[in-house]
Amino acid sequence: MAGKYDLTGMKIPNHVAVIMDGNGRWAKKRMLPRNMGHRAGAKAVENIIEEAHDIGIKYLTVYAFSTENWNRPEQEVSALMKLLRNYLEDCIKNANKNNIRVRVIGERSRLDNDIIDRINELEEASKNNDGINFTIALNYGSRDEIVRAIRKISKDCEDGKINSKDITEETVSSYLDTSDLPDPDLMIRTSGEERLSNYLLWQLAYTEFYFTDVLWPDFDREELEKAVIKFNERDRRFGKVSE
Ligand code: IPE
Ligand code: IPE
Ligand code: MG
Repeated sequence: MAGKYDLTGMKIPNHVAVIMDGNGRWAKKRMLPRNMGHRAGAKAVENIIEEAHDIGIKYLTVYAFSTENWNRPEQEVSALMKLLRNYLEDCIKNANKNNIRVRVIGERSRLDNDIIDRINELEEASKNNDGINFTIALNYGSRDEIVRAIRKISKDCEDGKINSKDITEETVSSYLDTSDLPDPDLMIRTSGEERLSNYLLWQLAYTEFYFTDVLWPDFDREELEKAVIKFNERDRRFGKVSE
């Protein structure tokens, strides 16, 4: 588990959000079916949770399935759902063994009932764990999340629970799926793509972005360390002048 780089004295990002991309290309390079790429990707997630925890990262949020990913061929979607079922099952065992607090963000009702049950079970079983906070974005789309938040806010206005004049940025944040997570400090996207693909649009307002050509199944501790080092080279201003 020891790393290649020495991070002593460096700022460790509190919350790292990841767009795990490139599973398909990883498989293609090896003349394997795409599904094998997704399997290798799931293994990489398990490893990176442990490494992130070891490095001192407190929150890790990963994009596993977007609201747009339903548009993939049906065969790929069902293979991903099957993988997800197995993954969630292993995750329940793993979370308690490794003291991981697991949360799921995204719109659940479109998922199969047995998957929803597993998610609820996982969140409940890990809710008292105080190690790393691991969040899985599943059937997640930032625009969908914002629309759902607006609906809830409007409903609470209609019901007289809140007054529209009192709505602040904090109010909006508190209606998002990420209400109990701090905003990410660092966002990593693998595989050379440099776009957000509907990921955490509100939450990433002041986040540093790190893009790497490494394909997700190859993303390991060394790659995570490189991202942390780059993060340390950035001058974080938050609208102020440089220090
Ligand atoms: C990311 O890998 C995993 C998911 C979106 C589920 P891709 O499947 O997008 O891999 P590429 O982009 O085709 O290589
Ligand atoms: C984003 O990756 C979604 C996930 C990693 C789950 P995609 O590969 O689906 O994104 P696009 O379609 O290339 O933007
Ligand atoms: Mg992709």
